[in-house]
Order: sequence, then C-alpha cells, then structure tokens
Amino acid sequence: MTAPDRVIVKVPASTANLGPGFDTLGMALELYAYIEMSRAEVTQIELYGNEMQGIPTDKRNLIYKVAQIVFDDAGVSVPELHISMYSDIPLTRGLGSSASAIVGGMVAANALIGNILSKERIFTLATELERHPDNVGASLYGGIIVATWDGETARHIRLEPHADLTTLVAIPEFQLATEKARHVLPASITMGDAVFNVSHSSLLVAAFASGEFEMIRHTMKDRMHQPYRASLIPGMTEILEKATDNGALGVALSGAGPTLIALVDRKHEKEIQLEQFLLETLKHEQITATTMRLAPCTEGAVVLQATQGQSFMDVIKGEM
Ligand code: HSE
Repeated sequence: MTAPDRVIVKVPASTANLGPGFDTLGMALELYAYIEMSRAEVTQIELYGNEMQGIPTDKRNLIYKVAQIVFDDAGVSVPELHISMYSDIPLTRGLGSSASAIVGGMVAANALIGNILSKERIFTLATELERHPDNVGASLYGGIIVATWDGETARHIRLEPHADLTTLVAIPEFQLATEKARHVLPASITMGDAVFNVSHSSLLVAAFASGEFEMIRHTMKDRMHQPYRASLIPGMTEILEKATDNGALGVALSGAGPTLIALVDRKHEKEIQLEQFLLETLKHEQITATTMRLAPCTEGAVVLQATQGQSFMDVIKGEM
C-alpha cells in the first residue's frame, strides 16, 4: 500500500432521521467540507470559510483528535500533523457538520497511512464517537443510509436516492446543540409510539427503495423525537403539518435541528410556494432563516487527486 505525502478529502453534509428513522436513517447532501492532511514537524491547523467560528486550531481540534483515533487503531504513530479545513456546512444546524468533520478527518488520516483500516472499521470508529450512525454513515457512504449501532459495531445498507428526489432546507439563523436537543427527549416511550415509529420508518425505507414517492407523505411521521423537540423550534409543528399541502413530498426536522428539510419531487415541485411557506411560517415566529436547495449526494467522502504544488484552496475551487 502506498502512503501519500498529503491527502485532500471532500466530505458531504447529511440529514439524519428523515422523520421516523431516529438514529437510523441518513441521507448525504450536496454541500461539502474539505480537509487536507499531511505529516508535519509541529502540528499546525488552518481553517478557511465562514463556518469555522470557535473551532480550536491546536491539538484539541476534532480533526486532529479523530486522526489520532485512526492511527491508534491502525497501530501507527503520526503525532504531528498539518491540517487545513474548509467547510460550507453550517455549524450546529442539523446538517451533520460534526459528523462530516469526523468522517472527513478519519478518511484523510486513513488515506495518509495507506488505507490500513477498512471503510467498515472507519464507520464503527466514527459511530463510537458520534454515538449514532445516521449522519456519519451518510457522510461516509453517500446516498441514503439505513444503519444500526449495537454499541460495538455499526452496520448499514446504502440505498441509491431516486433521480427525481431532491430537497429544500430551511436553515434557521439560531444554532441548536445536539446535546440540548437530545436532552428534551424522554427516557422511555409507549409501546404504541414505538410501533408507530417502527412501521413508519420501515415503510419510508420501502418507499425509498421502490421509488414510490406518493407513500413518502404518509411515512415521514414521527412520535419519538420531533414532538419533544418542537418547543425548541417555534414554527416546526405547523411546518410538519402543512408542508405536504405546499408542495413537499414529506418533511422532517433535519437531525437534531433546527433545520427543517422538505423532500421534493424534481418533476412536480412547487419550489416557490414551498419556500415561501417555510420562510413565512418561521418568520411568523420571529425566526429568520435561509433556504437552500440541496440534492442528495450519491458519493460519500472521497480522496481528491491534487497535482503537486496545487494549493488546498485551488483544489477546492476546481471542485466547485
Ligand atoms: N439522530 C440524531 C438526533 C442526529 O436526532 O439526535 C443528530 O446528531
């Protein structure tokens, strides 16, 4: 196996849960972070882009830490690294920014040592850190991911998103930490609610697999996390109730929020009506939001080919 001098990885954002598939379903989105990694004499971390506020640039940096997890697991020592990161993924908004950093950092570190670890091992290491496999699975494998985590091993099956499936996301201005959004969840739910989620999540997966879009509106319903998180995202309940009347195939809180994600059929979309509905409903609650049309990303984290001497930012520009 050859070990390159430097690697550059492109890793997609993701949406998790897709409504009923709490901690289970994920989908990669065409919005990216980029990580460059090489060996160094002294660790140096450079951050580029507008989404990097408050991120440490010393060995407390998440990318540095996850790289060390990979090296430890592979039995090699690379204590000093040069890391650069650029990201367009908004932080703490429910679009998997931390999962993309974990996956991007692990894939880069593994590539730097000649891919000693398998992709499945990276998935398990990333899930161990994130504690749930939905975002990390989507960022690693791309497409739609159905995943489990038994506390030891992460397993998944990847589904190809239908060519007509796309999304419109409304990203509120405020940040919401996943920890806070998990803290409002109950310790237990009723058997009725558990059955509701199992059946809706299973049927949603079947709808994705078969391309039966009409079923999506009936299946993106959840009783496990969204109702409890509603108090943290004013306007969410109305959006979940009415988005399908305004052109969405289905709608959900994206991950732990606060972003809301509407699935849309490219062929029958009413984008302007849906966008207005999302923005006005949030505005009515004094929430400013921006919308983005994000297609499902069919590719997971990839190592980019850079020519010698080509700068990190030039490689990124070439991708954009
Ligand atoms: N499944 C997770 C949650 C995703 O909803 O809390 C956020 O990391």
